[in-house]
Amino acid sequence: MEIIHTIDALQEALLAQQKAFPNRSRQLVPTMGALHEGHRELLKHAVAEGPTVATIFVNPLQFGPNEDFDRYPRDLTQDQKVCEEEGVSILFAPHPEEMALSNQQFVLQPNNLIDYMCGPHRPGHFEGVCHVVMRLFQLIQPDEAWFGQKDFQQYRVLEAMVDEFAMPIHMHCVETVREADGLALSSRNRYLNAQERERAVTLFNALEQIKEAVEAKEPAEIIQKKRKQLETQLSDAGFRLEYLDVFNVSTLAPSKTFPDGQPFVVAGAGWVGQTRLIDNLLINV
Ligand code: PAJ
Repeated sequence: MEIIHTIDALQEALLAQQKAFPNRSRQLVPTMGALHEGHRELLKHAVAEGPTVATIFVNPLQFGPNEDFDRYPRDLTQDQKVCEEEGVSILFAPHPEEMALSNQQFVLQPNNLIDYMCGPHRPGHFEGVCHVVMRLFQLIQPDEAWFGQKDFQQYRVLEAMVDEFAMPIHMHCVETVREADGLALSSRNRYLNAQERERAVTLFNALEQIKEAVEAKEPAEIIQKKRKQLETQLSDAGFRLEYLDVFNVSTLAPSKTFPDGQPFVVAGAGWVGQTRLIDNLLINV
C-alpha cells in the first residue's frame, strides 16, 4: 500500500494503478480517519470490487464553529494498519494545503435534501461535505464510491450531486455496522464515558420501535403518539434530541403516511453530554 500526502504523488500512483489493472474499476472510500469496523466494512466491499483508494482528511469545512474539529480523533498510524489489512492500494491523506480550502471561490449548495434531518441543525455542514468530496472525486476519478448508511442524508446528498453533475461514478450505500446492543459505530463513540455509552443506545431503541410500528401498519395517529412518547423518554434519559421522525428516502421530507411499497427512513440525532450522535433505519412497508 502506498501512503500519499500530495496531489502530484497521487496522480503518479493512480497512473501506475491504471497501468497495472487496466480492466479493473477504481474504488474510492472517503473517510475522516479514526477508522473502526464500519469503515472496515466499506473498505472490504470496495477492495472486493477493484483496486481501492482510501482517503483520510478531517475536513474543516464540514464542522461548525462550536463542533469538534480540534478534538476529532486523529491516528494515522493505526488507520494505516487498518487500510493495509483490508487490502487498500493507495491511502491518500492529503496535507491540508493540497485540499485548497483557504480561498474558496465556489460553494456547492444542496437544495431541499437538507431542509430536514441534520440540515437545519448543522448549517454549512453538507456544503462542506460536498466541496471536499467533489474535489476528491475530481482528483481520484473513481468508477465506484462507497459510503455508509449511517450518514444516510450525506449519502443522498452526494448521490444527488453525482447525478445532477453527470459524474460517471457508481455510488454505493453500505448497511450500518453496529455494536452488539445496536449502537451504530462512530468515530465519535470514543468520546462517551460509561454512563453516556448506556444512554447512547436509547436512540437506536427508539428508532427500532418506530420502525416496528410503521411496519406493523399501525394507524398514523398512533405512530405519531409513539414518536412523541419516545421523544419524551429520550429527553428524560438525558438524550438531547434534535429530531426523531420518519422521512421519505428520496426527498428526505418528513412523512406522516406510509403507503405500501414505498421505502422510508426513520432517523434521529441528538446529544449525549458533549457528543452528537445520529442513526437511522430503513423501513420497507
Ligand atoms: P467518516 O465519518 O469518517 O465516515 C466515512 C464513511 O464511513 C461514511 O460514508 C460513513 O457513512 C461511513 N460509516 C461511518 N460509520 C459507519 C458504520 N457504523 N457503518 C457503516 N458505515 C459507516 O462521512 C465522513 O467521514 C465525511 O463526511 C466524508 C464523506 C469523508 C467527507 O469528509
